[in-house]
Amino acid sequence: MSPLLGQRILLGISAGIAAYKSAHLARLLKKAGAEVRVVMTDGAQAFITPLTLQALTGEAVRTSLLDPEAEAGMGHIELARWADTLLVAPATADLMARLAHGHADDLLTTLSLASDARRVMAPAMNQAMWRHAATQRNAERLAGDGWQLLGPAAGDQACGDVGPGRMLEPEEIVAALGASQGADASASGPAAGLTITLTAGPTREPLDPVRYLTNHSSGKMGYALAASAARLGAQVRLISGPVSLATPPGVERIEVETAEQMHAAALRLAVDSDAFIGCAAVADYRAARVAEHKLKKRDDAEGLTLELVKNPDIIAAVAALPAAERPLVVGFAAETQNLARYAQDKLTRKHLDMIVANDVSQAGQGFGADHNAALLLWRRPDATTPGRHQTATLTKAELADTILHHLLERLSARQASDPHTQDTP
Ligand code: C5P
Repeated sequence: MSPLLGQRILLGISAGIAAYKSAHLARLLKKAGAEVRVVMTDGAQAFITPLTLQALTGEAVRTSLLDPEAEAGMGHIELARWADTLLVAPATADLMARLAHGHADDLLTTLSLASDARRVMAPAMNQAMWRHAATQRNAERLAGDGWQLLGPAAGDQACGDVGPGRMLEPEEIVAALGASQGADASASGPAAGLTITLTAGPTREPLDPVRYLTNHSSGKMGYALAASAARLGAQVRLISGPVSLATPPGVERIEVETAEQMHAAALRLAVDSDAFIGCAAVADYRAARVAEHKLKKRDDAEGLTLELVKNPDIIAAVAALPAAERPLVVGFAAETQNLARYAQDKLTRKHLDMIVANDVSQAGQGFGADHNAALLLWRRPDATTPGRHQTATLTKAELADTILHHLLERLSARQASDPHTQDTP
């Protein structure tokens, strides 16, 4: 069930070129089962017409505070009370400044002051405007006032610049809205009743009592996924390699060091899980023999040869469980080239249901970074090519929400096609 089902969403549109995407956003919100009403600023109407939004929502669009006819229908205070969520997308630099200073000089800013609803905005502007100290101050103040800021994403801009300031894609806004709605609903969230097991972080493969082989995985992505799954109401078990991160609230953490320990814990916990997410950067090899005592430096040899043996492929082992015990399996693929092709190959080869692929050659993404963009591919039983979704550059928390949203969709698609879970008439 969509977390936005029955939600009353007041969509505020301000004067940015991204306003053309607000029509699609309104449509997606309606599709997710929300009731949608739209308020546009004067400037927004230069980019998209109220008639478009009226046709998509089936509701008259409000544009003016001083409109006697509209006020006679549903006054602006009533409209402010009607909303469960006030979503401003796009939010321009000027609108953010006016909201940050408590202005009430048009309908949208007045409603923002008058409403007790959850308040969410998706900023969109030129990258220099977003980076400007004044905008950053306003963003901080708005967050402090209780606004949830979604994005902006970085990338190519309509003005020809490249950088942060792009509005998140409508799909990502809907996913984030649904995920935080689920968080508010906690135990009754969209993942309530589900058990999700994850692996995260690196593994550590000992060579002797003091040395080991490992990698640069920070665990941030896996921990963000665990936090997001718990917020959505799932029971979450996080099998973690050694990382320096706090356990997210409501998450059960199982600490392991080696790939073999992670493998054993994963197989033990996967069998009664609804979904398994393999986010760990598992060492492909371990020492064939772990020395009992510290390996000594030898003066009679210039080199040292270590014999390594292959570690088990944990996610492939989970994916190979018998159907009755097999959870939905989601893997990750960190690539530096041919992202889609390699990820699709891994999806098929490891028998995964979904794969999250990211290009780790991009600066500021992947290992240790706080942001990431990903290509999601999933197996479709009735099609020869996988389903796909390319996300914008998001914080790892936002990306986690997007991945979880897709995972929940795949789980309900699987349930719908499983004859054992369908009611018999
Ligand atoms: O083959 P590669 O390491 O690129 O595959 C990445 C995916 O496989 C990730 O989901 C990772 O957690 C998982 N993996 C695993 N066990 C291994 C190696 C990778 O579960 N030994």
